[in-house]
Amino acid sequence: MKVVVVGGTGFIGKAVLNELRFTFGNDLKLTVVTRRKEGAELFPAWQRPFVWDVGESPPPPSLVDGVDVVINLAGETVAQRWTQAAKKRIRDSRILTTRNLVESFRQTARPPKVLINASATGYYGDRGDEELTEESPPGSGFLAEVCQLWEEEAMRANELGVRVVCARFGIVLGAGGGAAERLMPLFEWGLGAKIGSGKQWMSWVHIVDAAGMVLHAITNEQIRGAMNVVAPNPVTNREFTRALARAVGKPAFLATALSIPVFLLRLQLGEGATVLTSSQKVLPKVALETGYQFAFSEVELALREVYHRRRQLSLAYSPAS
Ligand SMILES: NC(=O)c1ccc[n+]([C@@H]2O[C@H](COP(=O)([O-])OP(=O)(O)OC[C@H]3O[C@@H](n4cnc5c(N)ncnc54)[C@H](OP(=O)(O)O)[C@@H]3O)[C@@H](O)[C@H]2O)c1
Repeated sequence: MKVVVVGGTGFIGKAVLNELRFTFGNDLKLTVVTRRKEGAELFPAWQRPFVWDVGESPPPPSLVDGVDVVINLAGETVAQRWTQAAKKRIRDSRILTTRNLVESFRQTARPPKVLINASATGYYGDRGDEELTEESPPGSGFLAEVCQLWEEEAMRANELGVRVVCARFGIVLGAGGGAAERLMPLFEWGLGAKIGSGKQWMSWVHIVDAAGMVLHAITNEQIRGAMNVVAPNPVTNREFTRALARAVGKPAFLATALSIPVFLLRLQLGEGATVLTSSQKVLPKVALETGYQFAFSEVELALREVYHRRRQLSLAYSPAS
């Protein structure tokens, strides 16, 4: 099984690489495409690094020729203040990278069989209490527009006979990155609070399931087009806040009684605050219909596991251990 992963050095990427290794064992021939020139020697032997900035130019066709699966997880973080320059980086790192990748497929006689391309539930915009499946129309706003263009670029690979899956990730919860890594220290210090009214829906997924659903999409040929990578039970921000406080052993009533005013978030993050204030109640219709079995369906259990894992990691690296 020949697999090429772009953005495999990131938070989701690392989990996907481990899942690939676990699933395919010694049959796995893996190449991890990274922009980072330094540190190639630090990659474990089973992850062959290939240094290329796919956002700058299409990689050499030999990289993807005859490959079974290409997974594209590259993208500048959205968790920053959205200046004009940041918005350009957020847009280009997704759209140009995907365009160049598909262009490299076009230049080869044997394009990959499958492309799993990252997307996000940001596709749906800010939708209140509406239940959203893969069939729901896109929303409006910067992220929704970026996601639509991102998916359009990926879907062009269909013309080359490549099966394309656009993995619309929700808020991925895991140790070592993403939202939980940023929020848990605040909650541990007793500084946790809901955001605004707390009524906005949050569509979350545990990292084990995020990686598991990528593998599910690889091995299930009937999955084509959009796939929501979210748990079956989305929660409101108020419920999420309560679960997070309980997971770290802090009183939940305080966290849910307090709220961070939206105007303060806007002052700090600008338009980027919409990531925290938008409401998306997204359901994993495709994954459920194709028989995916979730490891984590309840948010509190997911957060407890992340908390436990973070503590294990910090103990493992503490000087006393
Ligand atoms: N984490 C979430 O909760 C979440 C939710 C929804 C969607 N997603 C999407 O899923 C994908 C992976 O997310 P993640 O959390 O794993 O992200 P991440 O940890 O930030 O890693 C993404 C990878 O993309 C590459 N990258 C970063 N900035 C880039 C830039 N300006 N240009 C080109 N490449 C760049 C980096 O690889 P190199 O440095 O090795 O090149 C990095 O390791 C992203 O596209 C993200 O939008 C994530």
